Amino acid sequence: MARLILEVPTMSTAQKVHDMHIPSPMDAKDAFSRLDETDDGVFYATDRFVSHLDSVALATVERLAGGLVTEESPVILDLMAGWDSHIPANLNPSRVVGVGLNENELQGNQALSEFTIHDINKDPHLPFPDNTFDCVINTVSVDYMTRPVEVFGDIARILKPGGLFLVVFSNRMFPQKAVKVWRESSEEERVILIEEFFERTGAFEKPKTFASRGKPRPKDDKYAHMGIPSDPIYAVYAEKGGGLQNKERPKVTVEFDGMPDKGELERRKRTIKDTLRCPYCTEKMRKWAVPDNPFTQTWDNDFMYICFNDECPYFVRGWDHMHTGGNRGISYRLMYNPIKDICKPVPVPSHLALREGIVD
Ligand SMILES: C[S@@+](CC[C@H](N)C(=O)[O-])C[C@H]1O[C@@H](n2cnc3c(N)ncnc32)[C@H](O)[C@@H]1O
Repeated sequence: MARLILEVPTMSTAQKVHDMHIPSPMDAKDAFSRLDETDDGVFYATDRFVSHLDSVALATVERLAGGLVTEESPVILDLMAGWDSHIPANLNPSRVVGVGLNENELQGNQALSEFTIHDINKDPHLPFPDNTFDCVINTVSVDYMTRPVEVFGDIARILKPGGLFLVVFSNRMFPQKAVKVWRESSEEERVILIEEFFERTGAFEKPKTFASRGKPRPKDDKYAHMGIPSDPIYAVYAEKGGGLQNKERPKVTVEFDGMPDKGELERRKRTIKDTLRCPYCTEKMRKWAVPDNPFTQTWDNDFMYICFNDECPYFVRGWDHMHTGGNRGISYRLMYNPIKDICKPVPVPSHLALREGIVD
């Protein structure tokens, strides 16, 4: 389902795809079909008091909500809620309503002041009056919506003008209940899909996006032995139109513990010729053979040094940095040129890229 995307940071990708008259995969007849078409109420009747994300990813979800929801004592709807609404302590909401399908999980959710069992695939109309909520959050569940544009449209109705709809997703799913277009999309294409859901309602401001991926997995996580990074967190969010013009929500960026301060970074860069250690993470850089192909003609060295540490803050923060600039699905590693004695970023589409050139 690959679509050619020309990145221009001033326009959302969904808008660009639309303007280029590229058919959207969400318009395919079976786009919202599922492997298991039985009643959702039956599937979700089984209690799942499990964490759908690792602890690092969960902390990112809370930072997102904590940073973006700026209303005092907000009224919040957790749409497709389970036993945890991921609402951080700093928010102090006056009311939190949960909508979901599993009564025991909703009953056990400490954040909720009330809840409703309501199947949004059967009835996308939400049982709340117009202009009720300051914020609607939907966490790791948008992949199960079979009528997302209708649901997003109704969310616009129940949000107050300028209210926020925050959609958060990762890369896990119950595949039998996820819609086909989601299953067949890459992570970056899923961001575009959600942008399209927002834009097709015609009721929201231009959506913004966030991406945090490649962070180290917590050592005590049950999948830590598999050597995979922390669960990625993507968010697509937008305000309902009609809000206060001069009220911008703060941008939430990917934070990283262990990033050296500017002075220390400069000191490490000055000594890199002798240490051959990455100034960001202090790992030994790997000697890397410059490939002999026409795309690398600007590099006249035979060798460079590249930091291949997957947990290096330079590489980890690169995903969000590139994403924010409109280049999705790319990060960069730090490359040291020993002849010119300078550091430069070298773009990489995955953590495996360029490794074939390591020679030491
Ligand atoms: C992966 S869980 C995520 C739960 C919670 N949002 C979280 O972050 O932990 C998916 C949730 O979506 C809810 N859900 C699935 N299909 C639904 C539907 N058709 N209508 C309403 N809720 C639904 C389920 O009850 C379940 O709690």
